[in-house]
Amino acid sequence: MKRSGGKKVLLACTVALAAAVVGFMSPLVRKAAAEETKYPTRDDVDYVYIQEPKTDSENGIITEDEWAEYFPEIVESYRANADNSFTIDYLKEDTYLSNIYEGYGFAIDYESARGHEYCLEDVQSVARPHPLSNCLTCKSADFTAMVMMMGEDAYSLDFEETASKLVTNVGCFNCHGNAAGNGGQLMLTHDYQIENLWDLTDEIPAATLACGQCHIEYYFKPENKATNSPYSSIEGMSPDAILAYYDEMGFADWTQESTGAALLKAQHPEFETFMGEGSNHALLGLTCADCHMATETADDGTVYISHTLVSPLTSDSILQKCATCHGDTDMADKVHTLQAAVTARETEVGTALSDFKDQLAEAVASGDYTEEELDEIRYVYRAAQWYFDFDYVENSEGAHNSTLANYCLDKAEELIAEGVGMFQ
Ligand code: HEC
Ligand code: HEC
Ligand code: HEC
Ligand code: HEC
Repeated sequence: MKRSGGKKVLLACTVALAAAVVGFMSPLVRKAAAEETKYPTRDDVDYVYIQEPKTDSENGIITEDEWAEYFPEIVESYRANADNSFTIDYLKEDTYLSNIYEGYGFAIDYESARGHEYCLEDVQSVARPHPLSNCLTCKSADFTAMVMMMGEDAYSLDFEETASKLVTNVGCFNCHGNAAGNGGQLMLTHDYQIENLWDLTDEIPAATLACGQCHIEYYFKPENKATNSPYSSIEGMSPDAILAYYDEMGFADWTQESTGAALLKAQHPEFETFMGEGSNHALLGLTCADCHMATETADDGTVYISHTLVSPLTSDSILQKCATCHGDTDMADKVHTLQAAVTARETEVGTALSDFKDQLAEAVASGDYTEEELDEIRYVYRAAQWYFDFDYVENSEGAHNSTLANYCLDKAEELIAEGVGMFQ
């Protein structure tokens, strides 16, 4: 396989269940509990070891079709991500958003995510402006291969021209490189996470890091528009640390016309939220794959890891895993109750933030304040918007870490009160 420049990094696929370490529940007890039912555990998976198959693709990536010969169930289950096609129009659902995001693309078009099979289609059809290829960072294995070949120059190529050449959505290569035949070996393939997180590959399980290449907060480097993540340690992933990082470098995603504030747009910090303070599951050693990828049995008896990335609440096989710790708790009820509480607070805080923004815009227009006074209020608004957004745009609606979700909403609330108190 041809690859220049790109550091190829292997991650051990053995994901030790840290539950044993903290004495919560030993893997043995877990296995025994699982054996009482029909669902296999990860220990039962029939891992396959084969020589890297030859590929006909121009960029050297082994394609889904080529893998299908060896892993028919996995390829089929990955393609079933197309069944996740439902979206919500957030701007219609939460009308205060377009005011908060005024002047930025998200005020025009902001729909919820859907399955991996739609990545390329959605990034091309979205009405938000996207002049450069950096918007393709998390949408296509072909683009990942392009970055490996060209380095950071790939990120500033023309979007349309590059997008028209890409065939593959997020695919096998993003999480496995070409090494899936090595017992499903996982690999970091995105340059910014290789750069920033390589030293943490012992601390963060591979089946979490794989998703942590895209389900993250990121920014584009001002000098060359390359994608980067704003941290290189687990502590650095907190909303406080990331805000401090952006403040330090004077970074803003956009400057809002009516308020003159230099604002940040959080993306989808599932990784940071899951790894963050308050996440019991991360401490217990659970990985993204544990809850979103079920262990299944094929018709011929092969035990494999389904690659349909589901809500755990829709999979009996995964729910049974929850039960090994949560007993007979109704998990749907537990999750939905928690999400309803977080969502209700989001509406309250989002509405207050939108009012704060209007007052700031009025203050700017009034001419009654000095630029210095306004800048102080603008910073408070920037921080409030950041904390609100960090929670709002995280896709689990509080399920991953309600402690952190509520912390962000608390901070936003405090900052809004502080800011509103600064108007004369
Ligand atoms: C290379 C980038 C990339 C990687 C790696 C990745 N994802 Fe995604 N994922 C995306 C993108 C982009 C979308 C949204 C696609 C769309 O809406 O068109 C998405 C969507 C999803 C969705 C659907 C969300 C919804 O609201 O319906 C789930 C679930 C998901 N990913 C889980 C995972 C898990 C679990 C992992 C790790 C095993 C993972 N993803 C790894 C890029 C990635
Ligand atoms: C302990 C189990 C658990 C772990 C571990 C976990 N999640 Fe989730 N995740 C959930 C639950 C529960 C939801 C909410 C599902 C729902 O609303 O139906 C969710 C929702 C999501 C969603 C929104 C899509 C959807 O179906 O609602 C994405 C995307 C996602 N998780 C990605 C990740 C990523 C990436 C990681 C690892 C960094 C991760 N999850 C780790 C349990 C988990
Ligand atoms: C979004 C990331 C992601 C993508 C894309 C992905 N995988 Fe995986 N794959 C994983 C994770 C995570 C595991 C391991 C789960 C664990 O350790 O619990 C895995 C495990 C495997 C395994 C070993 C388990 C088994 O059942 O044999 C194989 C083989 C495999 N993947 C092949 C593929 C193929 C082929 C594709 C493309 C169709 C693919 N994967 C796409 C993340 C991914
Ligand atoms: C290894 C043990 C373990 C497994 C497996 C596990 N959990 Fe948990 N979970 C815990 C512990 C411990 C807590 C903290 C106490 C509590 O809230 O019940 C927790 C908390 C939660 C919370 C509250 C989170 C918050 O931030 O407030 C939710 C929701 C949850 N679990 C859902 C799930 C789901 C869904 C699954 C299966 C996909 C699952 N858990 C699997 C141990 C586990």
